[in-house]
Amino acid sequence: MNVYNFIVDIQRFVKEKHNSGLKVGFVPTMGALHEGHISLINRAKKENDIVVCSVFVNPIQFNNPTDLEKYPRTPEKDITKLEQAGCDAVFMPSVEEMYPNKVEDHYDFGDIEHVMEGACRPGHFNGVAIVVRKLFEIVNPDRAYFGEKDFQQLAIIKKMVRDLNMNLEIVPCPIVRENDGLAMSSRNVRLNETERAIAPKIFATLNDAISKKASMTPAEMKEYTLAKYAEIKEFEVEYVEITDETNLKSLENWNECDHARIFVALQLGPVRLIDNVRIF
Ligand code: PAF
Repeated sequence: MNVYNFIVDIQRFVKEKHNSGLKVGFVPTMGALHEGHISLINRAKKENDIVVCSVFVNPIQFNNPTDLEKYPRTPEKDITKLEQAGCDAVFMPSVEEMYPNKVEDHYDFGDIEHVMEGACRPGHFNGVAIVVRKLFEIVNPDRAYFGEKDFQQLAIIKKMVRDLNMNLEIVPCPIVRENDGLAMSSRNVRLNETERAIAPKIFATLNDAISKKASMTPAEMKEYTLAKYAEIKEFEVEYVEITDETNLKSLENWNECDHARIFVALQLGPVRLIDNVRIF
């Protein structure tokens, strides 16, 4: 596997592959890779001739300086995992390489940006959009793979690609979970033993709420979920939302949409965790 730290080098690598008529799949990450990321690499391998991964902890998408400082960084382990997974190239730029000048771009994604993560983490999606656009322009992939754990991020990236007529396909991939149901996340390693033991209740509670759908309106399901989370003193819930999957608008009635999803964000010890499950 080739490891590139500079933009010109990854660009040359991809250009050569494209000149030979090969399709390039791309998996952008912030490193501290786990099986969820590897599932994206595997999917990209199946659907493309060449797979490129990027590992870059993007400072401008962190609204919380402590979160940025404590974000796990394991570059050597990441390289080994990517090599084992059969990834062809990894792009690991420095902050200076990605942002030689102050970035002032401002994106407006409309309503989907102002709810849930957008409301709780001001500037987060602008930072995500800036880096993802830049990575797409550098790597120039045919397809890019994103996990549905960051479902709102995925919706924003899809919108950016449509709005800017970018010539690539965005491929959403299912959430990968630990055996006990906890959604895989690079941040999970920061949970202590007690917190890790409680964490599966995030997913279990969402499933419990969904099982009551026949007897509840969306607002009642939201209240039920909040009440269940409130029983666990270690959870500090930021939001529970039940929305139409396509526009992330809160639902009043189940018949308003084809697919509904329940979302949660909560603080557990030092870690902010998110999860979501399709209701139907
Ligand atoms: O989902 C992530 O890991 C990041 O938000 C991404 C898409 C790599 C951009 O930094």
